[in-house]
Amino acid sequence: MQIALKERDFMKTNLGRSNMNTINIRRHPDSGYDAWLAFAGIDKDGTIYSHTLPESIYTFGRDPLLDTARDELKCALKLLTGKMPKVVDSPAKSGSILLEILAGPVRTDSFVPEEEWNKLGSEGYIIKYCNTASGKNLLITAKTGAGVLYGVYALLRLVQCGTLTQDIYLLENPVTGLRMLNHWDNLDGKIERGYAGSSIFFEDNKFIMDLSRIRDYARLMASIGLNAVVMNNVNVHKTETNLITSAFLPKVAKVAEIFRKYGIKTFLSINYCSTMEIGKLDTADPLDEGVKSWWANKAKEIFETIPDFGGFLVKADSEFRPGPFTYGRNHAEGANMLAAALEPFGGLVIWRCFVYNCTQDWRDRVTDRANAAYDNFMPLDGLFADNVLLQIKSGPMDFQVREPVSPLLGGLKKTNFVLEFQITQEYTGQQRHLCYLAPLWKDVFDFDTYRDGAGSTIASLLSGAAASGRLSGITAVANIGNDMNWTGHDLAQANFYCYGRLAWNPGLSSEEIAKEWVIQTFGCNPHLLDTITGMLLESHHIYESYTSPLGIGWMVNPNQHYGPNVDGYEYSAWGTYHRADHEGLGVDRTVAAGTGYAGRYNKPVSELYENPKTCPEELLLFFHRVLYKQKLKSGKTLIQHIYDSHFEGTGKAEQLVIKWSGMKDLLPPQTFERVLNRLAEQAKHSKEWCDVVNSYFYRKSGIPDNKGRQIY
Ligand code: GCU
Repeated sequence: MQIALKERDFMKTNLGRSNMNTINIRRHPDSGYDAWLAFAGIDKDGTIYSHTLPESIYTFGRDPLLDTARDELKCALKLLTGKMPKVVDSPAKSGSILLEILAGPVRTDSFVPEEEWNKLGSEGYIIKYCNTASGKNLLITAKTGAGVLYGVYALLRLVQCGTLTQDIYLLENPVTGLRMLNHWDNLDGKIERGYAGSSIFFEDNKFIMDLSRIRDYARLMASIGLNAVVMNNVNVHKTETNLITSAFLPKVAKVAEIFRKYGIKTFLSINYCSTMEIGKLDTADPLDEGVKSWWANKAKEIFETIPDFGGFLVKADSEFRPGPFTYGRNHAEGANMLAAALEPFGGLVIWRCFVYNCTQDWRDRVTDRANAAYDNFMPLDGLFADNVLLQIKSGPMDFQVREPVSPLLGGLKKTNFVLEFQITQEYTGQQRHLCYLAPLWKDVFDFDTYRDGAGSTIASLLSGAAASGRLSGITAVANIGNDMNWTGHDLAQANFYCYGRLAWNPGLSSEEIAKEWVIQTFGCNPHLLDTITGMLLESHHIYESYTSPLGIGWMVNPNQHYGPNVDGYEYSAWGTYHRADHEGLGVDRTVAAGTGYAGRYNKPVSELYENPKTCPEELLLFFHRVLYKQKLKSGKTLIQHIYDSHFEGTGKAEQLVIKWSGMKDLLPPQTFERVLNRLAEQAKHSKEWCDVVNSYFYRKSGIPDNKGRQIY
């Protein structure tokens, strides 16, 4: 059975060849390659859409992105309807789609009145019908080519989801200006925490020659509203340090050119010590004049090669990466030095806050990794330059299946920030397990930080920053590689998709995004739509229930982070402990008696977490030490909850296989098999998790399961 056709084989099939100058979308059915841009064009009755769609396109305005928008629309309509739409040179023909850049000021004869136009941001769009001299046309208006491009993809989504009505009126702006993907790709082609093959950018310490796959990737990104990419790993090793030298910059520029056509800015991760490693300096001290001028010259060189270069992503003084600490300088001094170099060209510094002591003594119960980002960065609030954004992981630890929201996000008041998620499933089953992440991310967006009083949700902090003209953003570690289907597990494409949709509009529900994705990827057969949507929606809960309990996290095999190992990190230096003994488990992070972490939140959240009675139960063990015999809200003891949730989780993982199997006749055969194999592995592996975790706690506590199930 052919499961994962790799990029190299794919190119040999001729399917991968495409002319880079024109958008030439071909379908690669049953491979997963087309993802949600297959435009299969079959509605739930099995008929194609041809009768419902305009047959000609007219563009107004000039912009390379408007050309991209027109070409994308043309190709998609051809695929959807079987007919190539005509590109006409007058808007007068009834039944056209008008793509219009309305940069302003608004003409009196415009289809968009001024008060509507004023509501548009630079990347927003309006979709509506308008009456021209000779009839009704469908209009997509925006202030920029990027806005029109997003409008085109929105229109195609509406068409496929069956929600394009005659009275359609859609005015959308993204919640934040920077919607980014971080690739943890190394030049040798390996991807740190990658579970879907190798890099689509690099191989053998070079850039990949055939750039057509990057073009197809840019399409996927733009179609969900993403506008920025960092192509190399935050851990910048020796070879990758050279990406900002003349040896590589022209290649970076080529890739940036592809992304640019889709409204995506290119950024690079840099090595903080570049002045020493590739410059000839003996220091990287940010206050050293030589260091400052080296970076200023470097910025000039980069922007001469890539005029719209985005800027630098920096992991400094984190997990053995160099940084300003070596010179007795703080993060603001480090970041501001780079910011000064980039500022004349409009570049940004995105400075990561994943800073903690990774050489902790496990016997030390005072130091708490959860406090680290907050304690390192809160004292610096207000000290960063305007073109610096702090990149903050969504939780205080490291992308666990359940964590509280980082208190730093609601702590900083005077500093720009980027919220960081992880799409690649490092801790959530590594794309061998199904784990749809939208519900988890929704919890983050909806979390009320009380920063500016009640209602200061993370989503509103982001939109508030955008409204007040401050920089803000959302980023995530990408989950794609050169596996033919991009994400290894076909259903993991839903995570890529929902990330972009939420980064555009965090108000969308997990369910509506799942449905959109299923329809565009698999069609709209009602049984298939309900079943796959249901599987996605329950998957995070399933994964959580057979892995580490009630927010404590970890319990994975060290380094590779796949599979159960309850004590895997218990006696290590990484600061990630569960502290289980024969009586109970959990970390006391209260102010009263623990590490004080709960007190990092604004009131009343801090009080809520401080008290075990009000602490949300799914986070109970993150904040409190709980005895096995203690009762939870369900009336069950903690130990019984652990047993029950693990058995239930495994049972549900088995159900996923059955549910998928029931759709054999509705799915393309190879897609069906690929997913089936992954789900079968998940079911088997969930049992491993269940048995290891349950046996561990049974042996520690000596308390039997009250249902008498097999524990080892
Ligand atoms: C995790 C991950 C690393 C990564 C790091 C980071 O610790 O395991 O591979 O480098 O996060 O976010 O920098």
